[in-house]
Amino acid sequence: MNTHARQALMEVLEGRQPWRRPVWFMRQAGRYLDEYRATRAEAGSFLDLCYNSELAAEVTLQPIRRFDVDAAILFADILLLPQVMGVGLRFEAGEGPKLEPVRSEQAALALRGAEAAEDLSAIYETVRLLRAELPAHVALIGFCGAPWTVATYMVEGGGSPERLRTRMAAMRNAPWLDIIIERLVEASAAYLAAQVAAGAQVVQIFDTWAGDLPDGLREKYVFAPVRRIIERLRELGADVPVIGFARGIGAAQPAFAQATGVAAVGCEASMPVDYMKDVLAREVVVQGNLDPLAVIAGGAVLEEGVQRLLRLPKQRHIFNLGHGFRPETPVENVERMMALIRAEDERQPERLAATE
Ligand code: CP3
Repeated sequence: MNTHARQALMEVLEGRQPWRRPVWFMRQAGRYLDEYRATRAEAGSFLDLCYNSELAAEVTLQPIRRFDVDAAILFADILLLPQVMGVGLRFEAGEGPKLEPVRSEQAALALRGAEAAEDLSAIYETVRLLRAELPAHVALIGFCGAPWTVATYMVEGGGSPERLRTRMAAMRNAPWLDIIIERLVEASAAYLAAQVAAGAQVVQIFDTWAGDLPDGLREKYVFAPVRRIIERLRELGADVPVIGFARGIGAAQPAFAQATGVAAVGCEASMPVDYMKDVLAREVVVQGNLDPLAVIAGGAVLEEGVQRLLRLPKQRHIFNLGHGFRPETPVENVERMMALIRAEDERQPERLAATE
């Protein structure tokens, strides 16, 4: 058992030397774990699981029991917020999420704003249960989806291979899209502030589809909404570090960090590690970016991928994937990956004695 009292994730996010390299994984709770599938079956459905605080806390803790990671991420989903804003939502087996489409001014104006976050009290209860149960060295991460990404699900009515309607609405400067984004900014800030009040120590904003937009539209739909959420969070008294995961924006990552004030940027798997090391990490803490497929493949490709990331400076890097674990990920490959990362910490325990 690890009984360390310091939280390596918080140390890096606050600009201190961490006692070891912080590690956590997107979708670390999920279908690749037998115990997750069992708890999900007990809950009934994915949404029932999200709204059952005790079971949601249980699945959040499952990866913490198996792997020596430095953070737990609240178990919930980015689509719960549009649901309480008034958008019908269901998850269909094998098909992913289905939402009632929002693609007119009338539908956009009917969305609830900040007050909708009050309906997510089950999620705040999950956070409270978790903070009481987590080991002291494990930080608790809250999250929401970024307005652009959540808007794509609302406009398309679910997942979509190209998200053309939403991208065309942005291209045409559709006023109803502005209303959706604005409501999402208000509701997301209130939602994150409530997670922080309940015990989340850091929050991540997931902009999975940030890479959909060309240069000229990124400020309006990606940077500005994330910046406004963070400004509002500060006004609401939530002073925690924010990790921005603007997936797929490549060389626009430094501009994203500058424009929004995030403490760390999550990098997609295609981001060159040398660019992370020599350019990005000089400006902001970097998180990522192992390809989740490398963890499925295992063997030399996994080993090489991990070693490549271990060249990043420990005090500026949060080890993670470039996107979430997939259901077919073998647990033994996750164990192997953890062993490789922790072996480096054993080789180079950084200034541990000096700071303790
Ligand atoms: O462990 C964690 O990372 C925390 C929990 C978490 C989930 N979803 C659980 C989940 C988080 C942080 C998310 C974020 C999320 N949800 C994103 C952004 C990150 C990303 O993956 O790009 C998006 C786009 C969603 C929306 C969403 N939720 C989709 C498109 C799907 C269906 C696809 C799939 O994998 O089935 C989900 C369902 C979902 N969210 C699952 C989990 C564990 C699988 C549900 C199940 O048990 O069947």
